[in-house]
Amino acid sequence: MPGWELFDEDEKRSVGEVMETGVMMRYGFEGARKGRWKAREMEEAVCAKTGAKHALLLADGTAALTVTLAALGIGAGDEVIAPPFTFVATFESIMAVGATPILAEIDDTLCLSPESVREAITPRTKVVMPVHMCGASARLDELKVICKERNILLVEDACQAFGASYHGRALGTLGDAGCYSFDFNKMITCGEGGAIVTDSREVYKRAEMFHDHGHDHSNSDRGAEGHPFPGYNYRISELHAAVGVAQIAKLERFVSIQRENKNAFKDRFASIPDIQFRVLPDPDGDCATFLSFFMPSEDLARKATRALKERGTEGVFHWYDNNWHYVRNWAHFKDRAFINSVSSDILKGMPDYSKRKFTSDELISRCVSITIKLGWSRNKADELAERAAAAVKSIL
Ligand SMILES: Cc1ncc(COP(=O)(O)O)c(C=O)c1O
Repeated sequence: MPGWELFDEDEKRSVGEVMETGVMMRYGFEGARKGRWKAREMEEAVCAKTGAKHALLLADGTAALTVTLAALGIGAGDEVIAPPFTFVATFESIMAVGATPILAEIDDTLCLSPESVREAITPRTKVVMPVHMCGASARLDELKVICKERNILLVEDACQAFGASYHGRALGTLGDAGCYSFDFNKMITCGEGGAIVTDSREVYKRAEMFHDHGHDHSNSDRGAEGHPFPGYNYRISELHAAVGVAQIAKLERFVSIQRENKNAFKDRFASIPDIQFRVLPDPDGDCATFLSFFMPSEDLARKATRALKERGTEGVFHWYDNNWHYVRNWAHFKDRAFINSVSSDILKGMPDYSKRKFTSDELISRCVSITIKLGWSRNKADELAERAAAAVKSIL
């Protein structure tokens, strides 16, 4: 999966171009930068690859989510519906703007269940935030209908899904805004980085200002620029953007390698009785970073995970036991102060995740995911897939 597995001269050259000028800042320094605008270049590439009208590159995916919510005017008293299976950053971003995360269940897609979203809506719901986990989409048609009917914003957390699509449209571009991560472990990496995409000029402008201390970017003299509202510093550096510029040019090749390598696993796992693959609402749009399947029971999922690891499969996840990706282990949300000083009143409004049992438990406790890597040759993928399938069969 991670793009760094296939780093080559392109990344070095692109970073070298920034080092030559010494200009690390994405704005200003027109004279010194010799026409090199890496962040801008990557934003143009994100628009070209996704079809979005506007893209803003930021320091990371968590920043992208936080800034998106702020740009949409989400704050204290507002509720954002999100799934219990995600990375903790989805929830951090909601709390960072002072809003309250409200859980809805996932279904066999490993993403938000539209039925459960309907039940979670209250008069305070402002945003539904599906998370396209492990590189493939949620049930977006149904979620879009709900958001339209109820006049709720749809913000896609596509941090794990840059390069994936839903019926021909890039994930991240189907709602009011979408967010990507280009962190050290993503298929397209900047080392650390993220992006917001939106077709709304207004949302883009607000995000652009908020992510840079409120600068309205109206002047070549930063000191003379206006600040319509306060913001933070969530900017990306030119060095990080330089890595991303080289990586994003390889997107199609990377996705095609991922798909081939995933097929090697899928072919072998298809013959294992008693396992079920995760449901993909659009199998053709999967960017194939993981193979995920359900074992018949929680106990067998743990045994399969252990057997896979013991027999040499790397990057195996039983998410139910993971402290970062499933809500049952997030009791720390109750006791922590977050940026923007989330008030204790807001935290009081949150359910006690450590005590409540979600029906998503039933699915996630049986789910195992195997990371598919970019760096494998086809022979290596075949060999590893053979070994992994044998490991799972051995415990059934
Ligand atoms: C679903 C999801 N949301 C948000 C993020 C945050 O992205 P970043 O690590 O770039 O801050 C991640 C990172 O893995 C993620 O998986």
